[in-house]
Amino acid sequence: MRLINATIATLDGNSPYGLIENGTVVIDQQAISWVGPEAELPTEFAEHEQTDLGGRLVTPAFIDCHTHIVHGGHRAVEFEMRLEGASYEEVARAGGGIVSTMRSTRAATVDELVTSALPRVDTLLAEGISMIEIKSGYGLDVNTELAMLRAGRAISTLRPLRVKTSFLGAHSLPPEYKDRADDYLEEICLPALTQAHAESLVDAVDGFCEGIAFTPEQIKRVFDHAKSLGLPVKLHAEQLSHLGGTALAAEYGALSADHLEYANDNDAKLMAAAGTVAVVLPGAFYTLRETQKPPIDSFRKHGVPIALATDSNPGSSPVTSLLLTMNMACTLFRMTPAEALAGATRNAAKALGVTDSGVIRTGLRADLAVWDVNHPAELAYRVGFNPLHQRIFGGACTV
Ligand code: NIG
Ligand code: FE
Repeated sequence: MRLINATIATLDGNSPYGLIENGTVVIDQQAISWVGPEAELPTEFAEHEQTDLGGRLVTPAFIDCHTHIVHGGHRAVEFEMRLEGASYEEVARAGGGIVSTMRSTRAATVDELVTSALPRVDTLLAEGISMIEIKSGYGLDVNTELAMLRAGRAISTLRPLRVKTSFLGAHSLPPEYKDRADDYLEEICLPALTQAHAESLVDAVDGFCEGIAFTPEQIKRVFDHAKSLGLPVKLHAEQLSHLGGTALAAEYGALSADHLEYANDNDAKLMAAAGTVAVVLPGAFYTLRETQKPPIDSFRKHGVPIALATDSNPGSSPVTSLLLTMNMACTLFRMTPAEALAGATRNAAKALGVTDSGVIRTGLRADLAVWDVNHPAELAYRVGFNPLHQRIFGGACTV
């Protein structure tokens, strides 16, 4: 297949969008065989069947690199409580929050978890997503942590998309281990990780380093175990306060540190040196009406790649739109539309350790999104409007 008459934002190279006007993408089977200006097409590709895109924009397919999209129940009642003045932490300490979703998740079967997640996944697919990351972390017992990861794997067999799973046993303390965080790690979290890894259910290991969750010392135990199993790590760090999680993540060469509202310039420096991606989550910032912004200027200054994700979860970010997330990143965090697009593609791939997708380049997978827009900044600019024309997943056209 050869896509012709396209404006291509390759996200490759040094210019902000890596833009090619009057471009062509040649696709053979799953992969990109050639990309460039129509006028420079090598003759060997001239006979490929053509699809005229009428000047439409082509970008890499989107990647949502941080979600909790598999879970039971919802937390609309907490939304009402927060609007009446309760804070996220107060709700959590009163037995709501993550622990309330834990109860609904434990009560669900793997099939029920899949069935309830699919409409949310489909909403993302309709925005040109080719890959999502899915975390466990609402089971907080061995069986349910594994069930969540199995549900994540099952989703990739039911829909044309790739799934990366992250084990998040260190998300919150279940009530049966109240004030016994170290016992929880020893008896539940670490054994669950061992078992999930043995069943090939884990692509990375995550944690929540926060006053209402785990200390850096406790996260260190989880990271050491991940390392002994040969698994990469990532971390929810400095979301509500500065505890030093980012520095710890960098020390372990984490793929990413996520949230980062309370991270500082030195954290950014450490992340740059470690090659750790900053995943910012404007949906959670917005939902919690946070006022402290992640240090975007420091990430820029030190050259830390910035990724964006929905953080789709029932509490702090009931969001299933990466387009809206891009708009929020620009309006709330003052990122540029080009940074937002790189955040949903190239840098999201990096945050998952993925090297075969996220930019449009010869040899990589043909995971593309075709948009009914003329300029790439339109993707972040509009609110509540989805201009996806077509999604191409591994060379196959699907929507
Ligand atoms: O990424 N920060 C911790 N975990 C989730 C929230 C989970 C929840 O509230 O259910 C997050 O925002
Ligand atoms: Fe999260």
